[in-house]
Amino acid sequence: MKFSKYTKTALAAAEAGAEVLLRYYNKNLNIEYKGEIDPVSQADKNAQKAIINIIKSVFPEHGILAEEDGVNEIRKDFCWILDPLDGTVNFVHGVPVFCVSIALKYKKEIISGVIYSPVIKEIFAAEKGKGAYLNGKKIKVSRIKDLIRSLAVTGFPYYVRKKSKRVIENFTNIMMNTQGMRRLGSAALDLAYVACGRFEFFWEEGLKPWDIAAGALIVKEAGGIVSDYEGSKDFIFKDTMLASNNKIIHGKVIRILDHKNN
Ligand code: IPD
Ligand code: CA
Ligand code: CA
Repeated sequence: MKFSKYTKTALAAAEAGAEVLLRYYNKNLNIEYKGEIDPVSQADKNAQKAIINIIKSVFPEHGILAEEDGVNEIRKDFCWILDPLDGTVNFVHGVPVFCVSIALKYKKEIISGVIYSPVIKEIFAAEKGKGAYLNGKKIKVSRIKDLIRSLAVTGFPYYVRKKSKRVIENFTNIMMNTQGMRRLGSAALDLAYVACGRFEFFWEEGLKPWDIAAGALIVKEAGGIVSDYEGSKDFIFKDTMLASNNKIIHGKVIRILDHKNN
């Protein structure tokens, strides 16, 4: 696959970010808390610096929306939306399920996305209209259409201890209707795993654009469907997300999920 200069830059930036993360992985970290259970460390911050340095060296005029520095240049036509470390809680506990997630938005569309899981050594990449790839090989979503044969994945927002009713109801209802469900701890990898057929669907609320921008494109380019809990395709800045392997599963899950924010 011949990627554009945008995706090549995203790949180089993801590698630079991952190199920083691996330097800190399983070492003593200086952890601060953004909320009661929401950690950030010098690994997140320094990986983000390394990623932005690479992007800015190639595209100095592009905007950045990144988790850790409060810069929000989303109004620019070209804007990079990135999470230097998705799966921070796993990372600080030495669980190898974490990644760098980088997407490029042009006007209102995500046109490039890269998710790099450096311990597991998997790089997911997609470009609008060109398909999705795992370590250079084309990937496709699973073909399963029965909910009871589906393996689902979800995550819990950091606010879950304050507002848990809908999260728990959805969790129970999905569990009762599927073959099983998992909670990996990285929304970006949850999406990447839907894209390559490991899971049939992923749902979560309280996500931020940097958690899902790259993964949403990768799922779409692998043949899957992404929307909010109501089916709206305009969801990157909304509160809820559902990504599925096909429209049959998507429709069935939308009917199960509680749409009300209670
Ligand atoms: C979190 C992870 C997690 C999800 C949370 C996210 P972080 O991102 O994606 O799986 O459940 O909602 O905030 O804090 O590890 O970058
Ligand atoms: Ca994240
Ligand atoms: Ca993060």
